[in-house]
Amino acid sequence: MIRVSEMDFTYEKSKKKAIKGINFNIEKGEIFGFLGPSGAGKTTTQRILIGLLRGYQGSVEIMGKERRMLSKDFFENIGVAFDFPNLYQKLTAIENLKLIGSYYKNNCLNIDELLERVGLLGDKDKKVEGFSKGMKMRLNFIRSIMHDPEILFFDEPTSGLDPINAKIVKDMIVELKERGKTVFLTTHNMTVAEQLCDRVAFIVDGGIPVIDRPDNLKLKYGKHTVKVKYVENNVLKKEEFPMDSISHNSNFFQILKSKNIKTIHSQEATLEDIFIKLTGRELL
Ligand SMILES: Nc1ncnc2c1ncn2[C@@H]1O[C@H](COP(=O)(O)OP(=O)(O)OP(=O)(O)O)[C@@H](O)[C@H]1O
Ligand SMILES: [Mg+2]
Repeated sequence: MIRVSEMDFTYEKSKKKAIKGINFNIEKGEIFGFLGPSGAGKTTTQRILIGLLRGYQGSVEIMGKERRMLSKDFFENIGVAFDFPNLYQKLTAIENLKLIGSYYKNNCLNIDELLERVGLLGDKDKKVEGFSKGMKMRLNFIRSIMHDPEILFFDEPTSGLDPINAKIVKDMIVELKERGKTVFLTTHNMTVAEQLCDRVAFIVDGGIPVIDRPDNLKLKYGKHTVKVKYVENNVLKKEEFPMDSISHNSNFFQILKSKNIKTIHSQEATLEDIFIKLTGRELL
């Protein structure tokens, strides 16, 4: 659905390249995560793909056509939710959705059902200016999917949401995938990335050093250990053992037999640990 090769981009008036020769492909039905710290180039890339920034170098093909050759009809096929909600403040929730829906030729999904799903049905006749950040985020999210587009671009879709609403939005993103939609998601939240993404690209300083499946990254780079906590002479002690040799680790069994064990946990490296290990950078 998306094929990017050797894409470079420099903002006008800037001497430095914001994007430096990046390459990636996204298949139909895939949730592709773009992960990186602030200033890495996530929003810039997304803006190039949706056509808000022109003058890129290299090739960006969307559904088989070069981005710079695509016409306005392209917007029927994509949905975009930025990290800052762009809504009409003086209109109500339902007025916003009806107005934006009227821009599209596609038949829109059932608006009341969408509002209900994100817990906003009871607020549909209230003006958006009185909405909280989280309410605006949720309205902005359904606004981006209401015309049932093939490709969705979400920039930090769960930022500013409480855990329950974040879960609703994450579940809806998975459902979009299950219906064959393609999702390009940017975030610096590794948990969101791990929960949702089929593949992730790590982006740092305008380059992509790594693209892989989260489970593959964990297998390749994560260390899997067992941590045992026990009490000895009234002091809590802990020891860690590698998981792969645990079945014949005599120290481990000695502790199990002879000590007063408090907890045993298996521990996996998180995507965040792997990001730091591979890029030498923190995510925030
Ligand atoms: N309008 C602009 N003009 C000039 N430089 C810009 C502009 N927007 C972004 N940049 C620069 O381009 C680089 C990439 O920025 P971008 O906004 O794509 O980062 P990001 O990964 O989305 O970060 P964040 O996580 O903070 O949203 C940064 O060095 C930034 O300073
Ligand atoms: Mg950004």
